[in-house]
Amino acid sequence: MSIPTRVLLLEKEHTSFENELCFKGESSSDESGGQTSITPISSKTTSTTEDISKQHERSSDLTYSSRWARESLPDFAMPEGKMPKEVAYRLIRDQMNLDGHPSLNLATFATTYMEDEAEKLMVESLPKNFVDLKAYPRTADIERKCVNMVAELYHAPMNTGEPAVGTSTLGSSEAIMLSTLAMKNRWMKRQRLAGKDCLRPNIIMSSAVQVCWQKAARYFEVEIRYVYCTEDRYVLDPDTAISLVDENTVGICCILGTTYTGHYEDVKAINDLLVKKGLDIPIHVDAASGGFVAPFMAPELEWDFRLEKVASINVSGHKYGLVYPGIGWAIWHQFIRLGRAGYREIMTNISNSATFLANGLKGLGFIIMSESGVNGVPLVAFRLNPKLGYQFDEFGLAHQLRQCNWLVPAYSMAAHVQDVKLLRIVCRCDFSRSLCDTLLKDIRCALETLKKMDRETLRLYAELERLRLVAGANGDILA
Ligand SMILES: Cc1ncc(COP(=O)(O)O)c(C=O)c1O
Repeated sequence: MSIPTRVLLLEKEHTSFENELCFKGESSSDESGGQTSITPISSKTTSTTEDISKQHERSSDLTYSSRWARESLPDFAMPEGKMPKEVAYRLIRDQMNLDGHPSLNLATFATTYMEDEAEKLMVESLPKNFVDLKAYPRTADIERKCVNMVAELYHAPMNTGEPAVGTSTLGSSEAIMLSTLAMKNRWMKRQRLAGKDCLRPNIIMSSAVQVCWQKAARYFEVEIRYVYCTEDRYVLDPDTAISLVDENTVGICCILGTTYTGHYEDVKAINDLLVKKGLDIPIHVDAASGGFVAPFMAPELEWDFRLEKVASINVSGHKYGLVYPGIGWAIWHQFIRLGRAGYREIMTNISNSATFLANGLKGLGFIIMSESGVNGVPLVAFRLNPKLGYQFDEFGLAHQLRQCNWLVPAYSMAAHVQDVKLLRIVCRCDFSRSLCDTLLKDIRCALETLKKMDRETLRLYAELERLRLVAGANGDILA
């Protein structure tokens, strides 16, 4: 017996394909096989069998039985025809999966976990062009509140009720561009007032700076005077920095959490030397990663506007501000949701993980180059102990760890100490203790595997990892 049933094949949203296909059909069940068949009713009543089968294919809700699963996606030109939204979604998602899971990317400082409510807020606000502050005054107000809160956290001198001076930027790189320009402009004004030329501005910094400083100096034509790292010092040496100062110095950059080893540079020592010598040179603190760690983990450390010579500070919301990259305004959610107590608790957990990991790695024979806690951000920078006489290097180990899906980058230290190779693991809030345990086991296993490999394979391993870096497959490792 055949029971006519009206079957809705696709959802309402599919009406964009309406001209090609009518979504209603009749389902019939024959007694012998009990199978259900669906007869599409085309709006083109004269459809050939071939048309119908094409239409049927288009309407398929099974991405992988559709023709799009059999065809390559275009590389250069936009396709002429459309595809169903579900198919487009899945095919792109399949490509994105190849990037691996961000939480296993231990190279990045960027936040890889936020609560559902924060994500919901972001998704709901996506249609807003939030830089159009006239159209979205509440968004502008949120930005002002965030700037005030960060300024207060950094002990900026504030008059009650008056907003702090600051702005949101896409990230620290943009903030550093603006600060370099501000330092140069301030210096030019001073030079002009004194009747002097403005031809050769210079800025002093450690060779461990993030690459955005080199970009800023190049864009704004400021000479960089480096204080080079040495085998046993990975931060700015205050005396050397001051010895490089002259009347063309626009400022000194101090890093709160260097990109290589996470160390805090001694901002207070530089400040005190400038004051002692009566030098009118401003300090800019690059607190990209340390700016949301030090206030909670080392509140006594003086590195911010408590110091007379500190004129400007940058911080990345998408690092330890605990917000995904590109949507800095969402930091307002984190500020009011977590409060100081929440940040303190999270930073304490992350720092404990970093200490635990560093101890575990020490136990495996590595040399630890970082100092999280009071002296640096919670990352672990480490290298192989040359005394162990391994045939493989840090790049080979990074390559081997990829077999377990961990992205633990290897890189060479800053200029003048580039023979020193190291690996760096950035501990973030979603890097819990149990993941830490698994990573340590995988590193132990990787070492055992590498020890058994022959010289040529090890050479290839290290080479592959280096090529990956050159090709940018890791993104900017030191970003
Ligand atoms: C010390 C330091 N400064 C600046 C930057 C650039 O920050 P952003 O990615 O927010 O532009 C980084 C990035 O890691 C950094 O570590």
